[in-house]
Amino acid sequence: MIKVGIVGATGYGGAELIRLLLSHPQAKITALAAKMDGKAAMISQLFPALERKIDINCADLNVDRMTEGADFLFLALPHKVSLEIVPQFLKADKKVVDFSADYRFDDPEVYQRWYGVKHNSKELLKEAVYGLPELYREEIRKARLIANPGCYPTGAVLGAAPLLLRGLVDSESIIVDSKTGVSGAGRWPGEGFNFCEIEENFKAYKIAGHRHQPEMEQELSKLVKKEVRISFTPHLVPVKRGILTTLYLNLKEEMKTEEVLRVFQDFYKDEPFIKILESDKFPEVKNVCGTNFCHIGCKVDERTGRVIVISTIDNLVKGASGQAVQNMNIMCGFDEKEGLEQVALIP
Ligand SMILES: NC(=O)c1ccc[n+]([C@@H]2O[C@H](COP(=O)([O-])OP(=O)(O)OC[C@H]3O[C@@H](n4cnc5c(N)ncnc54)[C@H](OP(=O)(O)O)[C@@H]3O)[C@@H](O)[C@H]2O)c1
Repeated sequence: MIKVGIVGATGYGGAELIRLLLSHPQAKITALAAKMDGKAAMISQLFPALERKIDINCADLNVDRMTEGADFLFLALPHKVSLEIVPQFLKADKKVVDFSADYRFDDPEVYQRWYGVKHNSKELLKEAVYGLPELYREEIRKARLIANPGCYPTGAVLGAAPLLLRGLVDSESIIVDSKTGVSGAGRWPGEGFNFCEIEENFKAYKIAGHRHQPEMEQELSKLVKKEVRISFTPHLVPVKRGILTTLYLNLKEEMKTEEVLRVFQDFYKDEPFIKILESDKFPEVKNVCGTNFCHIGCKVDERTGRVIVISTIDNLVKGASGQAVQNMNIMCGFDEKEGLEQVALIP
């Protein structure tokens, strides 16, 4: 049994992590922290549904308290906060999965350009492994620091990677169009996220300027060893959770839908959390919500020579906490599916 600590336990990512870890047979939550402003409280007071399930105090972050109380740390913190904290946990010989973008980029200048902060540890940027098990399982196994991927990049990279790696689509004209539920912005999202703004509304935001665009480009470029260019438009839809991503990719040669589906089936044949839908069936968010699955379907538009790929994930599970648990399982040598077998039939 490993002792697990969660920093950022009061946010959506932290809360979802608690939900998943409560059913994990080899991990026990032993330490919790958040920005409590001196008002420590039992986590079951903060989330009453946890009553009689977990009785741990959640207090302001104190690195010594967390390192004494836990062997494995999840940091579900806003960007820039993890930057300072990760090195302290690593120094104390702990394994860390960081939810933020602070250790996702290979190039510190790209991080600075998109996040507005100078990176203080080139070495750790180099060391951190991008935690997408379908692409980096072996590196994750040996890692002590995982940069858990962003939610949009998870769905987009999983949907594009097999076709790019097989050289079947043009790498410079990819369009990624995503729709996310509101929990993607965290528990305290700020202006424009109140009920009246969100309910019965549907809007695009950060067009050609979202921070997940360089992350998608970095990961796909690394994979195919040449520059991949993406136009990315995210949208906010009035649902609590789930991301549906539509990718438009130009085929280099004529292909039938069944042939493209076979490429996906072959690439993901041993993956426990990827489901490729059969011809003429397409992913829906309700079928992945509450699960760690990514569903992928596609159709070739023979008229335009494009393949249209649809992927769905739950932003809080495969897009964040579920993927983090999957990474922990790989790092600790547990069965990859431990703690991740729950389903929610009504999202
Ligand atoms: N939401 C998603 O779907 C999603 C998906 C993928 C990745 N992520 C990433 O995961 C991270 C967490 O996201 P979230 O949605 O869970 O955000 P959130 O709901 O806003 O939660 C943030 C958590 O961090 C705590 N916190 C903030 N500043 C802190 C500090 N200085 N010291 C200690 N704790 C501090 C907050 O405590 P208080 O509540 O007490 O302020 C809260 O527990 C972010 O980096 C986000 O980009 C989120």
